[in-house]
Amino acid sequence: MKFFLDTANIAEIEEAASWGVISGVTTNPTLYAREGGNLAEFHNHIKRICAIVDGPVSAETVGLKRDEIIREGLELAELAPNVVVKVPTMPEGLAATKALSDKGIKVNMTLCFTAPQALLAARSGAAYISPFVGRFDDISEDGIDHLANVVQALSNYDFGHDVEVIAASVRHPQHVLAASLIGADIATVPMSTLAKCVKHPLTDRGLKAFLDDWEKVKNS
Ligand code: G3P
Repeated sequence: MKFFLDTANIAEIEEAASWGVISGVTTNPTLYAREGGNLAEFHNHIKRICAIVDGPVSAETVGLKRDEIIREGLELAELAPNVVVKVPTMPEGLAATKALSDKGIKVNMTLCFTAPQALLAARSGAAYISPFVGRFDDISEDGIDHLANVVQALSNYDFGHDVEVIAASVRHPQHVLAASLIGADIATVPMSTLAKCVKHPLTDRGLKAFLDDWEKVKNS
């Protein structure tokens, strides 16, 4: 499973990229707003992220009509070769995804919750599909069960193009573990979750013991 970073924070992206384990970045309007971003700087901000990351960077459209989404998508795709246009899962979004993917532009269909939505997204030509996990948990449904349905349903068919499932709205390492066991292609995670994934108290304790013992070796 690949890891994407789910953030628009430049410092976090630089830090995660320096670990050498990040294969891409996903952003959305909320994440950009959280950085205090303004409209005039949006395209520059995406360009900066694209220059840091060696992999796909999802930048989201906000139009609600097919033609608006297509126009925004074409603009975003011009920003850098590694831009992926992120489009909400809705009828106009499907239509726009079809048009954009027919032009060779990679689309990540987002706000996907169910297997039927994912099947339609795949049919529309989406290269990436992002089922949200944590938001199901927020309403007392099991987001991992829904993710499993999406992965299973998509694996039953050949869509004539590559489709990768991005487990999104991933909140903690248990989500990461479950997504990997299900066989999601990618987990997009906040920096806090990435940091939790690498941390283990037994690793810390073991490292301390090794270093303490090495001091004895040096002093012997
Ligand atoms: O990738 C989608 C993600 O940003 C949504 O996460 O935690 O707001 O549900 P969350």
